[in-house]
Amino acid sequence: MRSSCVLLAALLALAAYYVYIPVPVSVSEPWKLMLLDATFRIGQQVSHLIHSLGLSHHLIALNFFIISFGKKSARSSLKVKVTDTDFDGVEVRVFEGSPKPDEPLQRSVIYIHGGGWALAGAKVSYYDELCTAMAEELNAVIVSIDYRLVPQVYFPEQTYDVIRATKYFLQPEVLHKYKVDPGRVGISGDSAGGNLATVVGQQFSYVESLKNKLKVQALIYPVLQALDFNTPSYQQNMNTPILPRHVMVRYWVEYFKGNSDFVEPMIVNNHTSLDVERAAALRARLNWPSLLPASIRKHYKPVVQTTGDARIIQEMPQLLDAASSPLIADQEVLQGLPKTYILTCEHDVLRDDGVMYAKRLESAGVNVTWDHFEDGFHGCMIFTSWPINFSVGIRTRNNYIKWLDQNL
Ligand SMILES: *[C@@H]1O[C@H](CO)[C@@H](O)[C@H](O)[C@H]1NC(C)=O
Ligand SMILES: *[C@@H]1O[C@H](CO)[C@@H](O)[C@H](O)[C@H]1NC(C)=O
Ligand SMILES: *[C@@H]1O[C@H](CO)[C@@H](O)[C@H](O)[C@H]1NC(C)=O
Repeated sequence: MRSSCVLLAALLALAAYYVYIPVPVSVSEPWKLMLLDATFRIGQQVSHLIHSLGLSHHLIALNFFIISFGKKSARSSLKVKVTDTDFDGVEVRVFEGSPKPDEPLQRSVIYIHGGGWALAGAKVSYYDELCTAMAEELNAVIVSIDYRLVPQVYFPEQTYDVIRATKYFLQPEVLHKYKVDPGRVGISGDSAGGNLATVVGQQFSYVESLKNKLKVQALIYPVLQALDFNTPSYQQNMNTPILPRHVMVRYWVEYFKGNSDFVEPMIVNNHTSLDVERAAALRARLNWPSLLPASIRKHYKPVVQTTGDARIIQEMPQLLDAASSPLIADQEVLQGLPKTYILTCEHDVLRDDGVMYAKRLESAGVNVTWDHFEDGFHGCMIFTSWPINFSVGIRTRNNYIKWLDQNL
């Protein structure tokens, strides 16, 4: 009896040690976030174990866990009709809300889910529920793209998939089939999906035949650059759940099918040191000491290495491509962009990617709404259903849908 008590106490202490990570006090529901993070970390560690045993790629294993947690089949309700189909060979799930009585043509949002270009999908319950809510509340048609993921394909295939599906949908006969108003289509996405949505937006801004086809873009804590992993938000949140810095840098390396030995040097910005010529020039476009407001910059100092590791850019030149890091796009590309909503969270390594893009767009004359959540953390907008419901999840979702309602 006594020894089992001791054992139980030891196990509890071990579990508490495992679950406990310092979480910022100002974050929404810190204890719940700690539990969510511990679950995700267990999933990641088990996946790495499976990988090292040679059973499966760790991202395939992790995605298997995520999908088994909640995959939803297409089921229609009175208010939203859900169908799975493909647009020019790219899988999509379409959510058709019921049209308003006085509007025969509906608005539409093309939605691109997050997950480090490697995880989740349109059929995963979090995204299925988000798109259902959007279709219902906006009386709109939501197209959620199931682009192919790492390690099935790598950059730039993900961008090709989302561009191909978007172009297909925007054809007059397809819009007509779904009863969508061609003048009221927007593009949107969260996290890595926000990266892909930004890339689609830019593509549609500089290709003459595609200009003005998107009315708005709405970017939720988007990933926008791989040049500086020491922005104030990367420094402040390097260990913040559920996306610590090393995990984000690893997603980048995996996206380019790069060597994971480069993760550590990239964390200290060795890939964009002053002796790496092209990189140093492009870093001027994310000159955060001038782009970020003082309230965001705080006391953080830029991390600029004099000498670094030129092999990193040689082996992964994609790191400097605006099709992966859309924050570094030319000013002329930004000028053609539609009205924009950018949501950022204080407790997120990606906060400053979003804030810098908002500032660059404003300078290019784009109408931008920057919506910042002081108690938000990366990924919060999809966590709205019990038991993984966060008050900031509900508030971010409400603001996002309200902005779309007023601007699309
Ligand atoms: C960064 O590069 C410098 C110069 O090559 C090297 O001394 C240092 O060890 C590198 N840092 C990491 C973390 O790889
Ligand atoms: C941006 O759009 C809003 C809403 O339509 C409008 O009130 C505002 O004047 C616009 N701002 C600029 C700078 O055009
Ligand atoms: C989560 O959902 C439960 C059950 O609906 C509710 O009682 C609780 O207040 C919610 N928590 C938050 C933070 O929204």
